[in-house]
Amino acid sequence: MNEELKRVIKDLLEEEIEVTIKVSNRPDLCDYQYDGTFALAKKLHKNPMELGEEIASTLNKIPSCLEKFSKIEFVKPGFINFTLTDSYINEILNKMNTEEKFGIKMPKQETIVIDYGGANVAKPLHVGHLRPVIVGESIKRILKYMNQTVISDVHLGDYGLQIGQVIYGLKEENIKPNEITLEKLSELYPKISGLCKENEAIKEICAGITKDLQDGSEEYHEYFQEILEISKKDIKKMYDYLGVSFDLWLGESDAYKYIPEVTKELERENLLEESEGAKIVHVAEEEDKIEIPPLIYQKSNGAYLYGTTDLATIYQRKQDFNPNKILYIADKRQDMHFTQVFRVSKKLESTKNIDFEFLGNGTINGTDGKPFKTRAGNTPRLEALFEETKEMFLNDDAHDAEYTNEDLDKIINSIIKFADLQNSRDKEYIFDTNKFAKVTGKTGPYILYTYLRTKKIITNNHQFIDNLSKTIYNVHDRNLRMKLLELENNLNFAFTNRASSVIANYLYEICVLVNAFYENNHINNLEDNKKKTDWVTLLNLTTKIIADLLDLLVIEIPSKM
Ligand code: ARG
Repeated sequence: MNEELKRVIKDLLEEEIEVTIKVSNRPDLCDYQYDGTFALAKKLHKNPMELGEEIASTLNKIPSCLEKFSKIEFVKPGFINFTLTDSYINEILNKMNTEEKFGIKMPKQETIVIDYGGANVAKPLHVGHLRPVIVGESIKRILKYMNQTVISDVHLGDYGLQIGQVIYGLKEENIKPNEITLEKLSELYPKISGLCKENEAIKEICAGITKDLQDGSEEYHEYFQEILEISKKDIKKMYDYLGVSFDLWLGESDAYKYIPEVTKELERENLLEESEGAKIVHVAEEEDKIEIPPLIYQKSNGAYLYGTTDLATIYQRKQDFNPNKILYIADKRQDMHFTQVFRVSKKLESTKNIDFEFLGNGTINGTDGKPFKTRAGNTPRLEALFEETKEMFLNDDAHDAEYTNEDLDKIINSIIKFADLQNSRDKEYIFDTNKFAKVTGKTGPYILYTYLRTKKIITNNHQFIDNLSKTIYNVHDRNLRMKLLELENNLNFAFTNRASSVIANYLYEICVLVNAFYENNHINNLEDNKKKTDWVTLLNLTTKIIADLLDLLVIEIPSKM
């Protein structure tokens, strides 16, 4: 849209610069705005007003500008305002309507490993696990949509102290590997980890078990296999419910065999240092504003840690996929851990060229502003959150439909995911079941309702789907069309910034405008066939866009609302 402006500026400056025109925040005055006149005037040592007038008048003489813009004008103190012609708006929309993925320009293709949802096995999933897994799945879908080659890996936490702890508990109670149940694990984990906090001797024993397991103890390995199977099954069940899937179901234990290679590289570079019997790698840098402590690579008892397995996993991924980037999504309190791991990887010959990104998540809070609890007062298992949400939704009397279980699950998913993804991923937010389960407001059900209602109009009038004419009929109509033009920018922004919230907010804005559109423009009984065709076609394009955006937010569409 801004090629002409770019050309004009290039002629003035005699060099090419990045030129962006922004969507106007005063749609009553113009559609787009360029606010770079001041900076440009400074560079050229010109009066900004004169320069602005000059640019606008040059643009107004370019034939292609006359086709695209009904008005280009300079306004004080330093803006150039653009208003699109109706025919140009419709030309773009027709292109979006016919081309694959709405004809958006795709970024450079890269191979990206994405690591999210890696719960620690042997602990039941609770609300704290929800965010990284939803955010991760959404980001994965955005990356794929933007033509990236993506490999997703859950990277379960399966070789840490918690395994030693539950094995200790199981053995204390004389439970054999084949007798382990999920309930037993859920009971033992908090019990023994509590014990370890009070009792140093037991903690030592658990650490010893973990170490022996890592060293290949057959007995412990049998326990480990069983615990892993049971936990994985439970995690898979929950992730299935959430529509989350992975290419790889690997974990810390799978990276173990790469540790010797990493050790060799670290030694070759002289990076390992002794400290109180442990082996550490210094990662502090001069410019650091906060202290970045060394990564502990191997404990004094010889056991390896979280950082070690993450380094080995990076090595493994390099061998298997040679990725350009690795993205991690986890609770933002792991920020320091990832800073250390990335810095060490950047020092190693084999992994130094990989780009790393850690996308930390804020917590989900209850209406009291504290980490979310069930009404019973405990940190809820995920199932409990799903149940509570379902209850709230069904108790809301704004709807009286009967739902199939399948539809209901989709609606519950939409409530939870839309509540979450509309917030920046790094900020905490308040999950208010009462508010998010409603069919009105900025909620999942509202989006689904809008989609289904629009879809119904289209189905009733499907014979009118065609190309858009050059006409736009009124302000509601124009507002909706203009909003659809923002798709490409929003997708690009969401992709570059790994920001699902941009998609969620954009989707909501579309839905608000669709509602205004069909409340003011009644289609079913319309006799003007040209108008009818244009409107049905517009709504059809709109629902295609909504459906794709919902998919990027991991929300499925029920058969009714
Ligand atoms: N297991 C970790 C946890 O439960 C998350 C794993 C994140 N991924 C990674 N490669 N460290 O907090």
